[in-house]
Amino acid sequence: MSDNSHDQHEAHTGPVKTPKQMLLLSIASFVIPVFIIIGLVFYVTSANKTAPGASDAERAVAERIQKIGSVEIRDANRPLKSGEEVYKAQCSACHATGAAGAPKIGDASAWGPRIKQGLATLVNSALKGKGAMGAQGGGDFNDTEIARAAVYMANNGGAKFDEPKAPAAEGDKK
Ligand code: HEC
Repeated sequence: MSDNSHDQHEAHTGPVKTPKQMLLLSIASFVIPVFIIIGLVFYVTSANKTAPGASDAERAVAERIQKIGSVEIRDANRPLKSGEEVYKAQCSACHATGAAGAPKIGDASAWGPRIKQGLATLVNSALKGKGAMGAQGGGDFNDTEIARAAVYMANNGGAKFDEPKAPAAEGDKK
């Protein structure tokens, strides 16, 4: 365009030959920047949307993780933890070392006399508490899981109890 205005001769062969073309060109020179601005506005607003969107996603992920965690702990229909899992999570604090006079896991001489009391007594002690051991039933695990942990420990101390099945009455699947 600037080339054309400098050279009068070429102006006749340049892109702008008629007033109509001139008019179209000036309209275009107004409209094109408008579209560029609209484009920039879209770019900026979408960029703004991406940032909170990302943190929303992070929050959503955190919430989802949290929900799964609490469902894992409180849902009565979740698959029950094995005795070993419960033992590691809740019983090993004392029973791994024999802290507070707890019968140590795998110590047959400590467990032998206790096993003779029978499984029901052991489970009852685990649930209700005994001596320095507090009641375990109110924790993150249900009665069956506590019983499984008691069986797990007793079996490590020489007993041969079966791992308790989930009571059907509670609607447990496993
Ligand atoms: C705070 C420490 C502690 C924790 C945690 C603990 N225990 Fe004990 N446990 C003890 C002590 C101490 C004894 C011995 C109690 C006594 O005979 O006076 C014991 C005894 C037992 C006995 C034998 C009970 C009896 O009648 O002889 C069983 C079974 C048992 N615990 C199971 C469990 C299970 C299952 C868990 C986990 C769910 C658990 N314990 C967690 C401290 C603990």
